[in-house]
Amino acid sequence: MKHYTNSEIRNLDNLYRLNLINSCSGYKSANLIGTKSNLGITNLAVFNSVMHIGSNPPLIGFIMRPATVARHTLENIKTTGYFTINHIQKTMIEQAHQTSAKYDEAISEFESTGLGEEYLDSFYAPYLKESNVKMGCKYVNEYHIKENDTHLIIGEIEHLYFDDGIQMPDGWLRLDKAETVAINGLDGYALPVLLDRFLYARPGKELKSIFNKEI
Ligand SMILES: Cc1cc2nc3c(=O)[nH]c(=O)nc-3n(C[C@H](O)[C@H](O)[C@H](O)COP(=O)(O)O)c2cc1C
Repeated sequence: MKHYTNSEIRNLDNLYRLNLINSCSGYKSANLIGTKSNLGITNLAVFNSVMHIGSNPPLIGFIMRPATVARHTLENIKTTGYFTINHIQKTMIEQAHQTSAKYDEAISEFESTGLGEEYLDSFYAPYLKESNVKMGCKYVNEYHIKENDTHLIIGEIEHLYFDDGIQMPDGWLRLDKAETVAINGLDGYALPVLLDRFLYARPGKELKSIFNKEI
């Protein structure tokens, strides 16, 4: 097996290390975060760090890189208090990736990529029209990660929308049916295949598959 020590990793070429370390933590979620400035300019950007924080209350978080360049998503969230999280689907990976380009603040990535802007239930931040799973979130808090000067941004889910037919009777969303993609590293987009689903595991109890069963 190939082996890297910490000092070898630290001495790697920057881009090589970025590719290696961004992919070794596993597949990551693929989302577009939608915001609108208080001047009404919309913004859409790809994030692979969106994570579940807790379900009661329904909290979601993501990592914001250091403020070495303008961070329009964060600026808009901090000034308006609202953002949307929209799953990236198979059909939109090129446009989704293009949103990572450093557009001027006056330019909307919705317009420049041709992705659709949508407003639902009077929520301030724009949703991605084409997305099959989307959430309207309210900014709650942020935590500075001093080790690398990033921030963990926490939001509470105020609205959740998803296409008919992807939810199972026990609440679970079957993301392969939505064609939600995953991100491998910083530039690889994958379409996961669901292998199985299990009942709550208990010590000494045989593991039971619940895949394809009505729960
Ligand atoms: C696949 C991918 C994932 C990304 N994930 C993040 C992320 O989790 N956090 C972050 O701060 N930037 C992330 N970025 C970079 C942002 O998309 C990029 O900085 C973008 O320009 C931000 O736009 P904004 O300034 O309009 O907010 C990612 C870029 C790519 C290509």
